[in-house]
Amino acid sequence: MKLWLFGLYGIVGSTAVAGERAIRKGLADTTGLVSELPDFERLKDYAPLEFEFGGHDIRSLDKNLYQILEEHWELNQHFDYRILLRLREDLEKIKAKKGTAVGCGEGVLEELKPLQTLEDEGLTLREIAERVEADLAEFADGETVAVNVASTEPRPEFDPEVHGTLEGFERALRENRTDKITASMIYAYAALKNGIPFANFTPSVGSEIPALKELALKVGVPHAGNDGKTGETLVKTTLAPMFAYRNLEVLGWMGYNILGDLDGKVLAHEQNKRSKIVSKDKVIGKILGYYPYTITEINYFPSLQDNKTAFDFVHFRGFLGTKMKFYFVWDAVDAIVAAPLVLDIARFLLLAKKKGQKGVVKELAFFFKSPMETEEYNTHRQFEMLKDWFNRLVAA
Ligand SMILES: NC(=O)c1ccc[n+]([C@@H]2O[C@H](COP(=O)([O-])OP(=O)(O)OC[C@H]3O[C@@H](n4cnc5c(N)ncnc54)[C@H](O)[C@@H]3O)[C@@H](O)[C@H]2O)c1
Repeated sequence: MKLWLFGLYGIVGSTAVAGERAIRKGLADTTGLVSELPDFERLKDYAPLEFEFGGHDIRSLDKNLYQILEEHWELNQHFDYRILLRLREDLEKIKAKKGTAVGCGEGVLEELKPLQTLEDEGLTLREIAERVEADLAEFADGETVAVNVASTEPRPEFDPEVHGTLEGFERALRENRTDKITASMIYAYAALKNGIPFANFTPSVGSEIPALKELALKVGVPHAGNDGKTGETLVKTTLAPMFAYRNLEVLGWMGYNILGDLDGKVLAHEQNKRSKIVSKDKVIGKILGYYPYTITEINYFPSLQDNKTAFDFVHFRGFLGTKMKFYFVWDAVDAIVAAPLVLDIARFLLLAKKKGQKGVVKELAFFFKSPMETEEYNTHRQFEMLKDWFNRLVAA
């Protein structure tokens, strides 16, 4: 089985590769992987935890994945260095191909300099899409999946002429509409066109537009997204149901996030940050059925590197109208909570493909902050939904 990562050289992408390799070599156990829970025992018959990796990136293309992981390690020490050393030979063989930064916003253009992109070679959108498709076709076999773990893009306004139908989208590619099409859409388009299941681990648009949903159905490929639910939002969507079950009224919920590293730098730019805030902010209202006052903030805090910290404050009202407060602090290494989910999602999507599923797999909502085609944001219910779907599929 093969896994293609858009944004391979990021800390999430590279840590997912290192993790899979470490587990296969017996250097780490499977803690953190949902797909390794006893509930999903039979998944290994369809999608074992064994991948070959490839991917696109837009920087440091002269380096290999081992050198990239060393750079991330220097800043983060995010896992035991002895593991990295033991993986050296394997990781040195993996190199990213040149991708595109079309529509990625000032955050990416400014913070990831010097960029190496296909548009810098003078390619048009149509030609960029063809190059990405060709890279994928060269890499893929019938058991390949692609996940977007590239930096967060701004979300362009929905334009029915371009995003509404596959025909309109392909016309916009031919007309080089760089104002309407972003890298994540091109990646999703190229993967789906190649018959490769696609997941969007970021808040970028990816495959969520009707044009690409149409493509997925036309070619008969499953896809999922958006935005991995790994930290503060995971805790929020696990705790918010408690207030609902106990008939407590949430008056306000403040979530204040600080992080460093590349992701933090990119998210320090207003346009890029907007996509993330929208994704994080709406979950409380969706779970409670009403919208309390919310503050959702993300700020860059360089010295933390990937050690993302979230401070949440909940003001709520109980019996006899009495107001009370609840606080929590989530202090986690972002890539360590994210990377296993990338592998989980890839495995479940491969199962879906093998079982003939096509279009959005809404039952993978458990893994996402902004799940497509479902209003279920409650983590507990999402987990039940995942298990039911899995059991139905393997029994079929
Ligand atoms: N817990 C988490 O870490 C978490 C949770 C949910 C979502 N995400 C999202 O996952 C993504 C990756 O996070 P990260 O911490 O690894 O960030 P990162 O900045 O370390 O990595 C992003 C990588 O993508 C590359 N990139 C940027 N634009 C690209 C493009 N258009 N094409 C190809 N490559 C591109 C960058 O060069 C970099 O190597 C971000 O969008 C982040 O918001 C992360």
